[in-house]
Amino acid sequence: MGPTETINKPDLPASTGTAHRLELAARCEALRGELARIVPAGAQLVWEVGCGHGHFLTAYAAAHPGELCVGVDQELDRIRRAVRKQERARLPNLHFVRAEARLFFEALPADATLAAIFVLFPDPWPKRRHHKHRLLQEIFLGDVAGRAGPGTPLYFRTDHAEYFSAVEAMLRTHADWRLVPGEPWPFERETVFQQRAAGHFSLVARRR
Ligand SMILES: C[S@@+](CC[C@H](N)C(=O)[O-])C[C@H]1O[C@@H](n2cnc3c(N)ncnc32)[C@H](O)[C@@H]1O
Repeated sequence: MGPTETINKPDLPASTGTAHRLELAARCEALRGELARIVPAGAQLVWEVGCGHGHFLTAYAAAHPGELCVGVDQELDRIRRAVRKQERARLPNLHFVRAEARLFFEALPADATLAAIFVLFPDPWPKRRHHKHRLLQEIFLGDVAGRAGPGTPLYFRTDHAEYFSAVEAMLRTHADWRLVPGEPWPFERETVFQQRAAGHFSLVARRR
């Protein structure tokens, strides 16, 4: 199944009017249909948010054939490349879905839960006035925790020192997550952004 190209457009319009709400509802419905086909009842997912070209999750899924892996990115060309990798590798446990992360979450079947979450080199939005666009925020982490069982790991990696410190501080006091200093990174495969970076910082947190 290829990525949804027409209805599930990634960029959420700024408007908050009725047309905007109807469009969001239509996208969510389309995504719900797509996810119902790939996520069986009661499934546990390894979820990569902002998977880009899919290098990491394709390698991870190949090494973990018993785990259902779903990568999400809002950019169509990136998801297309990721889907091609999945097809070449013929991995039935791997899916790439074009979606905005929060919308994906809303459309996920109610009984699906998260076995692990990977957030690798998310856009850092370095200017302070743009921090509100960052993916990893207090509320988003709370929403993700709602689908994660006790002990579910969250893996975060970035080359942006300030974003790393901000997320680390957020997790240190978060009601739903606890940092696990020193916990080893579970699987290595360089992503596109990791290849370009001079270095990186990694952390592991677990659902309380
Ligand atoms: C800096 S790139 C990193 C891609 C990949 N993880 C890597 O390390 O090469 C960030 C990715 O996150 C995606 N992204 C950003 N915000 C997103 C959102 N809210 N929902 C889904 N994808 C998002 C972007 O389209 C982009 O592909």
